[in-house]
Amino acid sequence: MIFYLIIFLLFTNLILILTINKNKIKKLIYKSKIKSVNLEKLDNIFINNRIDKNLYGPKHDAIVKNFCIVPGNNIVGMTSDYEAWIISSLSKKSDNIFEFGTCSGKTTFLMALNSPKNANITTLTLGPKNLSELKISKLDNKVSFRNIVNESIYEKFLFSDTEYENKINVLFENSLNFDENKHIGTFDLIFIDGGHTYSIVKNDSEKSFRMLRQNGIILWHDFVPGKESAKNVVKYINSISKDKKIFHIKNTSLCYYRNN
Ligand SMILES: C[S@@+](CC[C@H](N)C(=O)[O-])C[C@H]1O[C@@H](n2cnc3c(N)ncnc32)[C@H](O)[C@@H]1O
Repeated sequence: MIFYLIIFLLFTNLILILTINKNKIKKLIYKSKIKSVNLEKLDNIFINNRIDKNLYGPKHDAIVKNFCIVPGNNIVGMTSDYEAWIISSLSKKSDNIFEFGTCSGKTTFLMALNSPKNANITTLTLGPKNLSELKISKLDNKVSFRNIVNESIYEKFLFSDTEYENKINVLFENSLNFDENKHIGTFDLIFIDGGHTYSIVKNDSEKSFRMLRQNGIILWHDFVPGKESAKNVVKYINSISKDKKIFHIKNTSLCYYRNN
């Protein structure tokens, strides 16, 4: 009897330890090949301004126009406020911007609010009417495929009917069919946040490398080792890390590549 009690206690303790350390264990199992760096490494605009001996803050270059979505307003597929600030700050010095995956248009709107007056933003997305074209491939994660369906629900966006809409060109098109050849070496900033299945992340990334101009930046969203829906994003980025200098930005799910 005592023997069974000891086994039971050991087993419940083990379950408890595993539950408490779930995130640490996941990190060990799903080891990232991508180096995590401080935000300052991405661009000089993020180097902090020393205001006083005990106070540092953002430089003028990283002061942005912003808005928040009220908790409870169930908009799907958004970036965190910290990630949104990073993208907004980079938009301030980007004349030509491309986004894979519009969803509600939250990030697109922030790009339009913060980019120079004559900037152009192209954003590619699937609406409810495009979903019939979508097919799952062998290597594609099923949860990521289901998320695409759940996130392709918008036909109007947060920026619709605002004065910023004229900077934005929305393309309702499957990125697998998108012809990047007219845009080779033209974009300053590319945000990859479309379908998170392997075939789509690979397609969007390969097209982005071709469309990026000298010194331009590609950002990937949802690099979260261990998260089921982000599995294919992590797998693809890890797979190209030998040939491309890609970094993960600490405290975010963003990775970046700079064309220099
Ligand atoms: C995670 S949401 C994008 C979130 C948005 N970037 C933001 O920051 O608010 C994913 C979007 O990618 C789009 N998408 C998924 N697969 C796509 C594909 N193959 N071609 C074009 N758009 C795709 C979906 O329709 C959805 O709008």
